Amino acid sequence: MTDFALVGDAYAAHSQRARGRLRHDLVARRVLAELPTGPARILDAGCGDGEMTLRLAAAGHHVTAADPSAGMLEAAARRLAARPGLGSRVRLLEAAIDTLPADGERFDAVCCHGVLMYLDDPADAVARLAGLVADGGLLSILTKNRAAIGVREALRGDYATARRLIDRGGDTSVGHLGLPTRGDTADALDDLAREHGLAPLPWQGVRIFHDHLEDTWDPGGDAYEEALETEWAASWLSPYRDLARQVHTLARRQEVVCHDRERHPPR
Ligand SMILES: C[S@@+](CC[C@H](N)C(=O)[O-])C[C@H]1O[C@@H](n2cnc3c(N)ncnc32)[C@H](O)[C@@H]1O
Repeated sequence: MTDFALVGDAYAAHSQRARGRLRHDLVARRVLAELPTGPARILDAGCGDGEMTLRLAAAGHHVTAADPSAGMLEAAARRLAARPGLGSRVRLLEAAIDTLPADGERFDAVCCHGVLMYLDDPADAVARLAGLVADGGLLSILTKNRAAIGVREALRGDYATARRLIDRGGDTSVGHLGLPTRGDTADALDDLAREHGLAPLPWQGVRIFHDHLEDTWDPGGDAYEEALETEWAASWLSPYRDLARQVHTLARRQEVVCHDRERHPPR
């Protein structure tokens, strides 16, 4: 795709509103729950303006935040500068997934959120990302849910587009930024993770009941919390999660256990 910074301001505005925040809150809650308590080394691939990077660094983790867009990295750097104390835990790197350094560095978690939908084919990207996950480490992918193609459009009353997407069973539709985005199913992403030696964890559907609302949706404090908790509860369960706009898949690389060969000789 062309430089994402062209729609960066619109994306930043969306991220700060309730619909955008809902997604970040759900995804961050799960990722933080899966991480070790001690400081972890994390790669945020396609970090954009750094929302997840900032959340992870604020939780005490060390984050390499990579994005091919200089403009998005500048936005991330500006947000980082406004949060004294986090800078020492964040390294910004101008790199696309396929140019990420393969110099032997491995991460306790590799996050790639909201990026695969802009790539023609997820397989190479997942292979690259999985290769950067350390033993015992986590791969966290958030992308558009192919299984729910047309749901947003139908709930908004755009039946012509919904019918086209549903009848065709396609994988591409136009997202809220006006860009075409491709979807993947959780099953396909779990299969890719397995191919690269990672064991899938339960996946979640992200934004089930509130996706079709406009960004003007603005519930107050308690109403937002109730919406968030309802989304969280349903996010694990079919059939609710199958209709979510996005899928959050996670997979873990098995820890290598070194046996003491003297005390436990192999049988
Ligand atoms: C929708 S934003 C998501 C940003 C952030 N991960 C988040 O969840 O808020 C998509 C980001 O993916 C980046 N991107 C596009 N193609 C990429 C690629 N091949 N490798 C890594 N990042 C890419 C864009 O520059 C943009 O910053």
